[in-house]
Amino acid sequence: MNTVLALEGVRHVYPNGLHALDGLDLALAEGSFTALLGPSGCGKTTTLHIAAGLLAPTAGRVRRREDPPPPGSVGFVFQEPVLLPWLDVWHNVALPLRLLRRPRAEIDGRVAALLRTVGLAALPRLHPDELSGGMRMRVAVARALVTDPRLVLMDEPFAALDELARFRLDDELQRLWLARRFTVLFVTHSVYESVYLAQRVLVMGPRPGRIVAEIPVHEPHPRDAAFRTSARFAELCRTVLAALARSGATEAAA
Ligand SMILES: Nc1ncnc2c1ncn2[C@@H]1O[C@H](COP(=O)(O)OP(=O)(O)OP(=O)(O)O)[C@@H](O)[C@H]1O
Ligand SMILES: [Mg+2]
Repeated sequence: MNTVLALEGVRHVYPNGLHALDGLDLALAEGSFTALLGPSGCGKTTTLHIAAGLLAPTAGRVRRREDPPPPGSVGFVFQEPVLLPWLDVWHNVALPLRLLRRPRAEIDGRVAALLRTVGLAALPRLHPDELSGGMRMRVAVARALVTDPRLVLMDEPFAALDELARFRLDDELQRLWLARRFTVLFVTHSVYESVYLAQRVLVMGPRPGRIVAEIPVHEPHPRDAAFRTSARFAELCRTVLAALARSGATEAAA
């Protein structure tokens, strides 16, 4: 396996003594799509922050193929879309490229292409407070992908959206992933979303978190509404739910 990122025996204790992770092992193969599922508070966000290098683990190892990762090679979508309120849509998406001091023509081209992809090409001059929650999330996704990252870390990006909007964004993400084949670690509370998108679902147990089950989803991409309503989909969802229940995490099944 061509591993892009591996967490090995990771333990994390926050400064206040809260024991968030213990014995967490996780390896991401290049170009793979992995979903991370688990109950609230089990340490999913902590895991993503460690994977992104935003947080150093208390113990254990983080191995990266390229360390430190080249600028712009990791994209992060936070649980709440963190946009700069004084910048319009275009400038929020362009920000990572401007920080990397990329040439103006390249910035213009990439921002325009990503805004088209996420369906915001007509609204480049609106500010975050003029957007719906779903639009703000699209801006955050576009900004995470604008540098053409090789690793994309997403923290429940579509959780606040209604079901149809979430389905649409799941499909957009799937399309982007198939086109660019970046490596994805996607945190979600939704069993259905994890099975729909991922090649592999990792289930975390309650805090201190670690991976307690791994369910491969060997279905071809692109997946569509027919997959979502298939018997195979239902069976896979049952398998993931059972793994969550065994982990003591039944409340995460919603
Ligand atoms: N900065 C911090 N200081 C102290 N404790 C923290 C901090 N951040 C998170 N925690 C605690 O660590 C545990 C794991 O938190 P984390 O945010 O990783 O969970 P999560 O699985 O992402 O939860 P959710 O599904 O609700 O987003 C929780 O008990 C939380 O209260
Ligand atoms: Mg979280």
